[in-house]
Amino acid sequence: MKVILASDHGGIHLAKEIVSLLEELAIPYEDIGCHCTDSVDYPDYGIPAAERVASGEFDRAILICGTGIGMSIAANKVNGIRAALVHDLFSAKATREHNNSNVLTMGERVVGAGLAREIARTWLTTEFQGGRHANRVGKVTSYENQ
Ligand code: RB5
Repeated sequence: MKVILASDHGGIHLAKEIVSLLEELAIPYEDIGCHCTDSVDYPDYGIPAAERVASGEFDRAILICGTGIGMSIAANKVNGIRAALVHDLFSAKATREHNNSNVLTMGERVVGAGLAREIARTWLTTEFQGGRHANRVGKVTSYENQ
């Protein structure tokens, strides 16, 4: 699995935690920033990262902003992206098992570093269940491709 990581200025500290987790798990990744404290716009980082998942260059993306909401809205505009805004462990597992989410978004102003790390670990290591869930995800994809 290859992961692309991006954040705006509101997510740089949490993004560093995720870098350390990806290194611990030995998951190859690219961190496209912003690595900045100056104010930037989350779509400028979230959309290119999501596009690189949709193109197949990366399997998954983890996107961080202040709330995780902007990144999730932006990423979900890209065809083929199923971005999940997650701040609890139950949803981290469920969104992989049921939604086959390929993008995880979190908010640095919402969740602490320790929980965010465990959310990302769970999300990265949980498999899609397929079956009836594949049918449901397929309906979303069909709508998207109309
Ligand atoms: C930046 O202030 C903030 O709006 C952004 O990080 C994010 O929370 C947007 O959804």
